[in-house]
Amino acid sequence: MAENQRAAVILAAGQGTRMKSEHPKVLHEVAGMPMVYYPLQRARELGCAPRLLVVGHGAAHVEASLSASGAGFVRQEQQLGTGHALRCAAAALGSFRGTLLLLCGDVPLLRLETLERLLAYHEAEAAAVTVLTAEVADPYGYGRIVRDGVEVLRIVEEKDASAKEKALREINTGIYAFAAPFVFSALEVVGCDNAQGEYYLTDVLAIARQRGERVRALAATDAEEAQGINDRVQLAAAGVAMRRRINEELMRSGVTLVDPATTHIDPTVTIGADSVIAPGVYLHGLTSIGRNCCIEPGVMVHDCTIGDGVHLKAGSVLEGSRVGDACSIGPMAHLRPGTVLAGHNKLGNFVETKKAVLAERAQASHLTYLGDAEIGRNVNIGCGTITCNYDGVSKHRTIIGDDVFVGSDVQFVAPVQIGHGSLIGAGSTIVKDVPPDALAIARSEQKNIAGWAARKRSKINKREE
Ligand code: UD1
Ligand code: CA
Repeated sequence: MAENQRAAVILAAGQGTRMKSEHPKVLHEVAGMPMVYYPLQRARELGCAPRLLVVGHGAAHVEASLSASGAGFVRQEQQLGTGHALRCAAAALGSFRGTLLLLCGDVPLLRLETLERLLAYHEAEAAAVTVLTAEVADPYGYGRIVRDGVEVLRIVEEKDASAKEKALREINTGIYAFAAPFVFSALEVVGCDNAQGEYYLTDVLAIARQRGERVRALAATDAEEAQGINDRVQLAAAGVAMRRRINEELMRSGVTLVDPATTHIDPTVTIGADSVIAPGVYLHGLTSIGRNCCIEPGVMVHDCTIGDGVHLKAGSVLEGSRVGDACSIGPMAHLRPGTVLAGHNKLGNFVETKKAVLAERAQASHLTYLGDAEIGRNVNIGCGTITCNYDGVSKHRTIIGDDVFVGSDVQFVAPVQIGHGSLIGAGSTIVKDVPPDALAIARSEQKNIAGWAARKRSKINKREE
């Protein structure tokens, strides 16, 4: 099939009043992504081109948030109904004559398999329109599918339905496959003479029947997929369902999740086999985790590349960093953007890094800040070391050569360079470069005053008598 045989339109112009939000509904997040990401992703996986998003409420905000999604945008300035929304996309689709998949920006749980079945059935039947339906326990609020036996006659909205129609439990999910030429010609005759005064997309079914075209309906096997999001209770429920799916897929691919219900992993994250993820872990954004990693409770990772055999200990936070194989991080370490660990590195408790590049086996085990730093192989950074990278105006770099040993409580006042193989004495404030293999020591000499403390004590004791 040629590439442009399938196109997709995703409706996302509605306000979403029940979200009680300043932000456009479709940007509220489900499992770490704006909810509209999911239908867009499904349309991409199905090879639909173009993929057009109809935007209205908060249009500029939605367009900016999705500028890298590969979607085209169509503005619907006034929300006059779903039929009007699709009509707004007609010009952008030009002379497209293939199958048009219509999705909703607020229905994120649809599975790829379900949409594949919908398109395959629609195309095999050469239908003018095929609607995706679902059997639900409580159909209130949805459009109902009115049938005569297997034949679909029309869709009637809640507000326009008779008591008998309201009792129907087969509902319109709002997802359809259309023959593009048919739907655009039908939309030209859809009116707004109904309880809501809107142009209903659903009216095209009855128009198809009048014209003797084929109308088909396909029932989703799992009604959960069709669940739309109207309020924040449904938003949370969709998040739970989406995370469960993501987590089950990971577990089936060989990742251990000790407590999947409390493990939050975005759909954009990849994890290698035999990695073990403890409860309360958050893995976000463009993150990849290698094989045989161990991630302890309360770890948060955002946009990081983590190698194999890495141990992330409890309470650590990693952002925009690259961590090579066999590193050990934390507990309570904070890797900020631009941290690069070559491999076999250890960053222990309360270590913070930012734009710090560590060569293999360099380590900082305790209570340290490394910012704008380049640190050589096998360097040992002692407890309490600080790179003083900021002078109040600009940032400066600390460069430490291979095999340097840094004693505890050292400050490097950047810019400063430390030659390979040198030793920095504990408690030093280093303001000048250090040549290779030297000992640098920068602290005042110690004085011991004999008996001073005892004399002080006896004075105090006398006063208290
Ligand atoms: C619609 C269907 C209903 C179906 C339900 C499924 C119609 C007339 N009714 O009802 O049969 O059971 O979806 O959820 O189609 N939108 C626009 N522009 C508009 C109006 C809506 O872009 O002018 C978008 C919304 O942002 C949303 C989608 O279309 O993504 C559905 O709109 P909504 O108002 O939620 O439709 P319902 O009344 O729920
Ligand atoms: Ca409506």
